[in-house]
Amino acid sequence: MSGFDTAAVHAAACEPPCNEPAAAPIYAAAGWTFRSLDEVDAVYEGRAHGTVYGGSGGPNHELLENLLASLHDAQACVVTGSGMSALAVTLLALGSARSRVVASHDVYGNTTRLLGDLERFGVRVEHGDLVDRSSVESLLAQPAQFVIVETISNPRLRVADVAWLAQRAHACGAWLVVDNTMATPYHCRPLALGADLVVESLTKFIGGHHDVVCGAVAGSQKLVEPIRVLAGRLGVVGSPFEAWLAARSCSTLGLRLGRSSKGALEIARWLQGRREVHKVHYPGLEPARDAASQTLSNGFGSVVSFELAPERAAVNRFLAALRHLTLVLSFGGVATTLSHPATSSHRALTQQQRQALGIHDGFLRLSVGIEEPEDVIADLERGLAALA
Ligand SMILES: Cc1ncc(COP(=O)(O)O)c(C=O)c1O
Repeated sequence: MSGFDTAAVHAAACEPPCNEPAAAPIYAAAGWTFRSLDEVDAVYEGRAHGTVYGGSGGPNHELLENLLASLHDAQACVVTGSGMSALAVTLLALGSARSRVVASHDVYGNTTRLLGDLERFGVRVEHGDLVDRSSVESLLAQPAQFVIVETISNPRLRVADVAWLAQRAHACGAWLVVDNTMATPYHCRPLALGADLVVESLTKFIGGHHDVVCGAVAGSQKLVEPIRVLAGRLGVVGSPFEAWLAARSCSTLGLRLGRSSKGALEIARWLQGRREVHKVHYPGLEPARDAASQTLSNGFGSVVSFELAPERAAVNRFLAALRHLTLVLSFGGVATTLSHPATSSHRALTQQQRQALGIHDGFLRLSVGIEEPEDVIADLERGLAALA
């Protein structure tokens, strides 16, 4: 009979069941066992299907990667611990100190900051309006290595013409990297439009419940493999539980976004008719709608931005009057939430940068969930009444 501690360590083996669980198990192991050195070689060399080490991903990552690759019709996909790490590893794996990066001027605030960090290593970054064709032509008159754009920009919700940008990027020798977080593959599959890589923050609509922080990048085998190697080396692949949650959420993505994007259009139209609202940003409204339809399908997304008078105290009164909607500094959950880009996603920018983007104290971003739109409208009505 073994000692107490030996029994406590070794007696926990579970007999493999004769049938399969209907839900994917969570493989929480960092270390994996091997029966021989030959098996170690076979797994390392890809001749046998197995996991080397949890730090570079395991079966839950693989399941999510296969799922996202199929939703994007991509050859390959790598899951990382966040949307930002997906973008950072992409640039580190494929770029060099001599890279010239052309990025949209209204990308997520932390993306702007990340590109600023890369400038310390010699990378040249230029921001411009990648929705405006003449601005793209002048930015891409010189060679570049990466063009970075968001399908639907955050928070001004301008839609990039991904197919045209891909042609222009390729003509100057650049890869087009599309951050598709706002659109998700439900509304846009950038690779099918000619983009080289698609980055997703799964923390938002794909996770869908404010309980996951995760990211991914998908594209050709050739581009994704070096990104996979670096993500594994750095150990930024995120936990199996997060990958499991994100994969579980993918199955309801179409149901959730089908409903919330319809609600978003209804709410955007209602906001347009309110005198307290100075401007509504939504790709499904005229005049943006026709151009947005070139890139988006199944609707125009579930985020609506709107501008009140630029007064912080009035925004606080508006927020205090709401019954259901809460101020959440993220987006993409099943509940409708509001955020205030000037104090959150774009806080890291200078006042001047925010001003150039039109992000002032009265600018609000509404992430529409799956509630009945009339209830969301009733709550917004309560908020707007507090401005009188
Ligand atoms: C458009 C966009 N891309 C990327 C990110 C970063 O995602 P994560 O928080 O998963 O790193 C965000 C976060 O808000 C975002 O809005």
